[in-house]
Amino acid sequence: MKILVTGAAGFIGSGIARELAKRGHEVVAADMFLDRLYSNEPKLANWEQLSAFAKIEKVVVDLRGELDVLPDEFDVVVNAAAMPGLMTSWSEFDTYMTCNIKLVENLIAHRVREKTHFVQLSTSSVYGVTATGDEKSECLPTSPYGVTKLAGEELIRAYHRTHGIQHTILRLFSVFGPGQRPDMAYHKLINAIVAGEQFIVFGDGLQSRTNTFVDDCVGIISTIAEFPATNEVFNVSGNESVTLNDAISVIEQEVGKSALLKHNPARKGDQRTTSGATEKVRAAFGFDPATSFNEGIRKQIEWQLSKK
Ligand SMILES: NC(=O)c1ccc[n+]([C@@H]2O[C@H](COP(=O)([O-])OP(=O)(O)OC[C@H]3O[C@@H](n4cnc5c(N)ncnc54)[C@H](O)[C@@H]3O)[C@@H](O)[C@H]2O)c1
Repeated sequence: MKILVTGAAGFIGSGIARELAKRGHEVVAADMFLDRLYSNEPKLANWEQLSAFAKIEKVVVDLRGELDVLPDEFDVVVNAAAMPGLMTSWSEFDTYMTCNIKLVENLIAHRVREKTHFVQLSTSSVYGVTATGDEKSECLPTSPYGVTKLAGEELIRAYHRTHGIQHTILRLFSVFGPGQRPDMAYHKLINAIVAGEQFIVFGDGLQSRTNTFVDDCVGIISTIAEFPATNEVFNVSGNESVTLNDAISVIEQEVGKSALLKHNPARKGDQRTTSGATEKVRAAFGFDPATSFNEGIRKQIEWQLSKK
């Protein structure tokens, strides 16, 4: 299949581009190296790795604008391009609005044809403070990030109702493992413990996540991209609940050093509990997030240490 993977220099998009190329697909990898959330250094390293695949064509393009540099038609578009990160969304609204909403409209209007399957990466943040139920749970986002990602979903559903756009929406729950974005908590925590630097715990540390290991996440997204469109929403989540305090203990043990912790008040809009119900994606596609938290975090620590 001919597949466009957007955000292909990013944490998750780069993994999807590699995985789809390994599966024999013709991949067009697109990114613009947006550096509003974190530096471009990791993205450039991810981008370089894509060069090893003859099946991947790399295109640098701002997907909010003119798309002439991209081929006209694709069997599948996997949209992993976005402005992620919850906290920055209080101060960078224009970037969230354009990269999470306008970009979706631009792709659909100009590169999605009748036969194209549009796979949108969404987030548990659309559910709000607690994301503990199934896909029918009410969406009550508590941050501009969650609002713009939900608006992206709604736009796709509107195009589906009115123009028959074929799609699948995947709500990802905290992805971790090698390659994790440097602005994310575990990445910062590992670096702080290794360097003997202070790590700030926002709130009581009892906020919990059912993290998804990156290879499990990339694997199921790639599989869904190969299936016909469902026109449905699916949660994609690990199934092990881990509090921030638990994660600190596990990482301390793995690194062999104690964390230097400072406690600050909880941040506005942050999620308290995420625990994604995954029966739907399991039943439809056999999703089995096999990697335990301990195993996944060990791999992430090894990866971060290898970069030092
Ligand atoms: N990482 C997680 O834990 C997580 C959790 C839930 C949902 N998601 C979703 O998964 C997707 C990927 O997230 P990620 O963690 O890999 O983020 P990331 O920032 O590493 O990757 C996003 C990529 O999109 C690119 N991009 C942004 N705007 C663009 C534009 N206008 N034109 C071209 N490229 C553009 C960026 O340069 C970046 O390389 C996002 O949709 C995010 O909302 C991620």
